[in-house]
Amino acid sequence: MSITARRFFHPSYQSTSTDVEDKFFTDLRTRNATFKRTASDRFLDLDELCLKCFTDADAKIDQVLDIGISSGATTLALSDKLRAAGYSGQVTGTDIAIEGRLVTAFPGVRVLTDEAGHPLQYDLMGRVVRPWGRRADYATGMVVVRAVANAWIGGRARRIVEQGGSNADPVRLVSPRANNHPHVRIERNDIFENTPAYRDRFNFVRAANILNRGYFAEDDLRRAIANVLSYMTGPGAYLLIARSNKGRHVGTLFQVSEDGRYMNVVDRTCGGSEVEWLVLEATLPEQWAK
Ligand SMILES: C[S@@+](CC[C@H](N)C(=O)[O-])C[C@H]1O[C@@H](n2cnc3c(N)ncnc32)[C@H](O)[C@@H]1O
Repeated sequence: MSITARRFFHPSYQSTSTDVEDKFFTDLRTRNATFKRTASDRFLDLDELCLKCFTDADAKIDQVLDIGISSGATTLALSDKLRAAGYSGQVTGTDIAIEGRLVTAFPGVRVLTDEAGHPLQYDLMGRVVRPWGRRADYATGMVVVRAVANAWIGGRARRIVEQGGSNADPVRLVSPRANNHPHVRIERNDIFENTPAYRDRFNFVRAANILNRGYFAEDDLRRAIANVLSYMTGPGAYLLIARSNKGRHVGTLFQVSEDGRYMNVVDRTCGGSEVEWLVLEATLPEQWAK
């Protein structure tokens, strides 16, 4: 069972382990039906793989973009790994769900919502209830509790957020360890909206557990990939796309070719990313071509 958002975001709360933090975020389902599911140490092997490639190629890695970061736990781990290997740059972590609200809907009843008032967690007198369901809920009767919570408490929380009510406190839906971090910057960003400030900026981009075919339609994936490519610095820059599946990572590390005309596959894990072909088919920014 997750801890309540009220406890997690309380200034006096000190997490004793990253497990509690990971569980808290893993149970949050966002408005576009993706989960903030994460695990602090989940990418140690992928981080190693990338670092080995960077070191072997004597690559310059100083501006890193990590997209769809959930709590930012894996972003912090990536930053630590890069620094330990001698890369001293900045890591920017982005996610669509960064700004949240902690709403007191009724006395003793709190709702964690996103910035639009979409419910992420109910706290009924200290007991956590998820707004989304599992099959087992039919057996336990939780399906009824959830339906009532969504209709009655969720609706009220949404209205409070929409009206800018004073009983909705802003919270950042990221690990407290990521706040005011000297080498990691967390920003709200939608992978589907091209961001001029990111263009031509990053020599390593990671998109882990976001560019999944189960999450988005093919046309949307193409659009997101075009945005991601436009954020890269061009020839020599790296892109990692990965997806976790039953404790393993299926991924591809790409690099922009020297002449700027192609994306090359540098390495693969577990057969490669399910969207590898979309990246290889993508049109690269014209200014890269030599
Ligand atoms: C499963 S989590 C992945 C977290 C982390 N990268 C990992 O693998 O542990 C997917 C994240 O993508 C974010 N996300 C979903 N849609 C997004 C979008 N359009 N733009 C940016 N982030 C998005 C979700 O909020 C969620 O935090």
